[in-house]
Amino acid sequence: MESALDWHQAKALLDWQVELGATEAIGDAPVNRFELAKVAAAAATVATPAAAAARPAAISGPATAAAEVDAVALARAAAGAAGDLVGLQAALAAYEHCELKRGARHLVFADGDPRARVMILGEAPGRDEDRVGRPFVGQAGKLLDRMLAAIGLDRTAEDPARAVYITNVLPWRPPQNRDPDPAEIAMMVPFVERHVALANPDLVVLMGNIPCMAGLGQRGILKLRGHWTEAFGRPALPMVHPAYLLRMPQAKHEAWADLLAIKARLAG
Ligand code: URA
Repeated sequence: MESALDWHQAKALLDWQVELGATEAIGDAPVNRFELAKVAAAAATVATPAAAAARPAAISGPATAAAEVDAVALARAAAGAAGDLVGLQAALAAYEHCELKRGARHLVFADGDPRARVMILGEAPGRDEDRVGRPFVGQAGKLLDRMLAAIGLDRTAEDPARAVYITNVLPWRPPQNRDPDPAEIAMMVPFVERHVALANPDLVVLMGNIPCMAGLGQRGILKLRGHWTEAFGRPALPMVHPAYLLRMPQAKHEAWADLLAIKARLAG
């Protein structure tokens, strides 16, 4: 029997799962269990070769659909059409080809002042950022704020000379904070490129491996850090991620050297 859940039934089922203790969506893509049951039943009853040929080869789900569209080309077109940051945020919100979007609570776009000379590019929202809808608000974000304060920068500053602009490669939280896969990074690169072009900072800080993948096509942050390079058409400095510094405080002196390099560059 076909059953279509209405909004209220769906909400009640979701509330029930939350009450049972479910706190996260653990799959990248939603699974339609009604379809699974139908396909399993069809597989069990198919007896003849003709019937087998008529059977669908696979459940037509997001993976099949993703293979049929060029997600990167669509991202490029959507990002390229955005004439300002508000338009870019709307283009991201309307982009349907990244499965991470389905498991995220919020699109985490940016924080700080887009007029700032320094643009920080992080990896992806974590649990706190997903809940609040702003980048770097958890423990790593608090450390980032202290690091920036040490060189006179502040995401809440009204003076653009002291301000910073902060965003991430991924605007949606990956389930369980896993690393985004190469296809997910690739489809976000056009949005990041456009984001940098529209914000027009003097320099970009690539905070961690994922921004290095997006901006330089390579990872290996411990080797890359501290060496000025170019990413998205701007001078760029790879730095270790503050989450790494929370786990490895002994790496803080290198991060301090990188912060001083940023300060010197801004003064020069
Ligand atoms: N780590 C990131 O890279 N970005 C955030 O927004 C939060 C944690």
